[in-house]
Amino acid sequence: MKHLLSKNLLTEEKVMFYRENGFVQIDNVLNLEEISELRTYLDEVMDENNGLSIQTDTKGGAYYKVLNQRVNTWRDHAGMARYVSHPRLASIALQLSGVSGVRLFHDHALLKMPGDSKPTPWHQDFPYWPLNKETSKKTLSIWIALDDVDENNGCMMFLPKSHEVGQLKPINLVDPEDIFEYTKSSSIPDKTPVIVRMKAGSCTVHSGLTFHHAHANKTNKPRRALVIIYMPDGTTYNNKPHVITDPLNLAKDEKLQHGIFPLLAFR
Ligand code: SIN
Ligand code: NI
Repeated sequence: MKHLLSKNLLTEEKVMFYRENGFVQIDNVLNLEEISELRTYLDEVMDENNGLSIQTDTKGGAYYKVLNQRVNTWRDHAGMARYVSHPRLASIALQLSGVSGVRLFHDHALLKMPGDSKPTPWHQDFPYWPLNKETSKKTLSIWIALDDVDENNGCMMFLPKSHEVGQLKPINLVDPEDIFEYTKSSSIPDKTPVIVRMKAGSCTVHSGLTFHHAHANKTNKPRRALVIIYMPDGTTYNNKPHVITDPLNLAKDEKLQHGIFPLLAFR
């Protein structure tokens, strides 16, 4: 499907900001009806026990305290699939990355649960993924808030321009190394993070290399977010084990163009 830029959502200014800083906030990507529908679908899919989506950890686990995470919700719920493959969102990914086509890599439901909640440590996403690094700068995640978010329930924080540092080691999210130790001698001019408070239905977009963090959830309700991860058409597999690619028996450097990585937008 070919999609034109939604002018109201994504101005040229936003595109420039994203390219310069490695992240951007876009308000109201979903309307009230869509928010309510997607919340229902998300709650339903989190209860799915026998499907193809992957629950990373169970209640009480160390990872669960950081994130109650379910990977590839779209594989178990046609409603989730509709949003994960939504042309409006894929079009944003296409315009921001500037590539000729974007494929779905995967989605995550990311809930920060109330109770014994831990922050999401500062990290880059790309080092976790089994993708060759040629396309690292052009991979991106759209993080859609399904609840209003601020410092009290786990809104996102970004370090502007950190995507220019390149790929670092993966950070262990339950026993984190300090990513800033790796960048002591680097050229990030200003290490002041940006806190992104948003209303439900708004989103942030960050590149696979941008440093980001989220606060612990100190409220008594879950913080719900849907994250959709896109990669440029032509992205190849680097042969590292990964929960999404393992079942596919891919060859090293094979292009990720299987049915579970659909081309969602192109120009
Ligand atoms: C979070 O939702 O807490 C973290 C999201 C991310 O790491 O992309
Ligand atoms: Ni991340």
